[in-house]
Amino acid sequence: MATKANIVLMPGDGVGPEIVAQAVKAMNAVAAKYDVAFKTTEVAIGGAAIDAHGVPLRPEDLAICKKADAVLLGAVGGPAWDNIEVALRPERGLLALRKGMGLFANLRPVAVNDVLAHTSPIKTEIVSGTDLVVVRELTGGIYFGKPSGQRTTSKGRAAVDTMRYREDEIARVVRLAFELARTRRKQLASVDKMNVLATSRLWRSIVEEIAPNYPDVTLEHVLVDAMAMRLVRQPSRFDVVVMENMFGDILTDEASVLAGSIGLLPSASVGATRGATDNRRRGLYEPIHGSAPSMAGQGKANPVGTILSFAMLLRSSLGLDDAARDIENAVEATIEAGIRTYDIAGDLTPVSTDAFGDEVAKRI
Ligand SMILES: NC(=O)c1ccc[n+]([C@@H]2O[C@H](COP(=O)([O-])OP(=O)(O)OC[C@H]3O[C@@H](n4cnc5c(N)ncnc54)[C@H](O)[C@@H]3O)[C@@H](O)[C@H]2O)c1
Repeated sequence: MATKANIVLMPGDGVGPEIVAQAVKAMNAVAAKYDVAFKTTEVAIGGAAIDAHGVPLRPEDLAICKKADAVLLGAVGGPAWDNIEVALRPERGLLALRKGMGLFANLRPVAVNDVLAHTSPIKTEIVSGTDLVVVRELTGGIYFGKPSGQRTTSKGRAAVDTMRYREDEIARVVRLAFELARTRRKQLASVDKMNVLATSRLWRSIVEEIAPNYPDVTLEHVLVDAMAMRLVRQPSRFDVVVMENMFGDILTDEASVLAGSIGLLPSASVGATRGATDNRRRGLYEPIHGSAPSMAGQGKANPVGTILSFAMLLRSSLGLDDAARDIENAVEATIEAGIRTYDIAGDLTPVSTDAFGDEVAKRI
């Protein structure tokens, strides 16, 4: 009997619709090969939702996303919506979606394909062989801690932000990182600043308490400042790297530079597993880049980040590991065949977003 999957598609703004359309081609190829019945629902988010409904995400649309198995998103934002009030801006739709779906971990894989290693701003011999995943805690820490604000004191203006973590918030993302390491090269680096921060000392204690449950995974602790250096000096040494929210915000951007083009990189934001014996998680999958408004409608956007985000969706939300690997192999084979979009073409003649998507689907 066919596997059933209920997927929400949110193309969003700018290049969003063009790149999501390429992931849909991969979806159709997987449906035919693996007997999966995908039921898709298209929902507006960001600027597209503001234009259609006056808000960046309608509550009834959030409800549709919460019921789905997974959400695949393009990107939101653009100059047309830059000057509207903060509460109605396109990215507010994205924040409401992450919060509403209870997504506490953000996963960003960075794998450097050898034939593209020379497109990275970092030396080829350093980035070559890099294949890591940064796992970032997404709903706690200094971005959400109270008190937070500015006031005027007798000595002038003062501001405060609060970094706060409960042990359950740390434990769930650390366990997810150990589980992920188990499916890869079985190495986990936990990043903290335990020499200065109380939240980091709690973080490290919890990692140490959980580690004995994963004797097959090799654990190391790395201070965040050292990690900033090691990510550009020896990125190929890392497998899974886990960290709290703000450290992750900064280091995932640093890690994204390793791969050459921002258009290549996928991401997943996931929540709790469906049950004690069911490891699948509801999630939101999107490329790490924005809506690239200057490229929109020209067929120049690289759809690889979105197609690989769909592969992550198959693996984490549907448990379809073989289909996910098929898509990853098809992307690699397409690139290795010399078929390239504008951002990674170098001396080769680039193909359009649409043509690239066809070539990947053909190889699944
Ligand atoms: N998650 C999101 O939806 C998200 C993330 C970041 C920015 N944004 C929004 O996107 C808009 C543009 O922001 P920005 O220019 O700072 O970031 P951007 O990621 O859209 O673009 C940065 C650079 O990367 C290039 N680029 C982006 N995607 C590409 C792709 N698929 N293929 C090839 N090249 C690609 C762009 O042309 C640009 O030179 C803004 O409105 C911003 O708020 C949205």
